[in-house]
Amino acid sequence: MKSKFILITTTVIAIISIILSKKVFFGPPHIVGSYDKLHSCEVIQVPGGFGPESIAFDPNGDGPYTGVADGRILKWQGLDIGWTEFAVTTSQRKECVRPFAPEMEHICGRPLGLRFDKKTGDLYIADAYFGFQVVGPAGGLATQLVTEAEGQLFRFTNDLDIDEDDGVIYFTDTSTSFQRRQFMSSILSGDKTGRLLKYNKSSKEVTVLSQDIAFANGVALSKDRTFVLVAETTTGRILRFWLQGPDTGKFDVFAELPGFPDNIRRTSNGDFWVALHAKKGLSGKILSNPWCGKTMLKLPLSFRQLHSMLVGGKPHATAIKLSEKGEVLEVLEDSEGKTLRFISEVEEKDGKLWMGSVMVPFIGICNF
Ligand SMILES: *[C@@H]1O[C@H](CO)[C@@H](O)[C@H](O)[C@H]1NC(C)=O
Repeated sequence: MKSKFILITTTVIAIISIILSKKVFFGPPHIVGSYDKLHSCEVIQVPGGFGPESIAFDPNGDGPYTGVADGRILKWQGLDIGWTEFAVTTSQRKECVRPFAPEMEHICGRPLGLRFDKKTGDLYIADAYFGFQVVGPAGGLATQLVTEAEGQLFRFTNDLDIDEDDGVIYFTDTSTSFQRRQFMSSILSGDKTGRLLKYNKSSKEVTVLSQDIAFANGVALSKDRTFVLVAETTTGRILRFWLQGPDTGKFDVFAELPGFPDNIRRTSNGDFWVALHAKKGLSGKILSNPWCGKTMLKLPLSFRQLHSMLVGGKPHATAIKLSEKGEVLEVLEDSEGKTLRFISEVEEKDGKLWMGSVMVPFIGICNF
């Protein structure tokens, strides 16, 4: 028994050393048909802020607005004025002074997915720690709408999309076991407690549509409102939940992607941009096996080391456009990571692509 343990431990340590020393060899494969052009994008810095994850424009087309790691939601007012504070998700913010302090997130809030209701101008917010919230067009302190579903508190609210005609909002709670700052533990342990939920604006009721998603992340409704997509980050899949038609209430796999999908945003003609947090290389595939992942979590490795093993290769942005049938239409990369790395959202507006990232202090704007 003991010798078996030593053998396994040695093997695992050997694998780690190889992965750490030969990052390039274990880096993710090239995606056929991909264009390496995201390095030519511009960036807008977020001074004093970090990790602008989601990007949303208000019904007048102003902004964008974005949520940063210290809990603020900022509004971009153009080059002369820059970013101004628009909203917060909690009032106890005296100690929220550092741009990036994961240990403070449960006090300061961590706004992730943002979407404006085009009819009312209200901004809906998925805050990783303070649940599902809304703030009026003038901003300020957001109001918590719901904090639990079927007796289970939200633990890691992540993204949302609004069906304005039906008055319902679809949103994700990534895990019932892990909080945002433990996202790597959720992925490595193979946690499958992510939920897709539906909030009815008039009855104020929440319904659980699914509760066994492996890291439920980005959400996007189809243009014809027949289905809603959910990014299942751990498995690299985009799941489709049917809202209408013969398969109503059922899930199927909409697309399988070569990496870890984050947010999904629909384009004006009904396609979807999916931001990959990173591509999945061999090391990521090995670690996605829960046994390997759980073993890795027990070893004395830093967050940075674990993350670099999980994503493998050089950190670089990858954006994938899918048709409304789930076919890959376009893949854009910054394969050397010169300008953009670890993107979390791609929002198309007036022919430009706006990119958020949870891991850097700026957003990207790409005009091709
Ligand atoms: C939302 O709730 C209202 C009031 O209970 C109900 O009439 C309506 O059908 C619900 N909408 C949806 C889309 O479930």
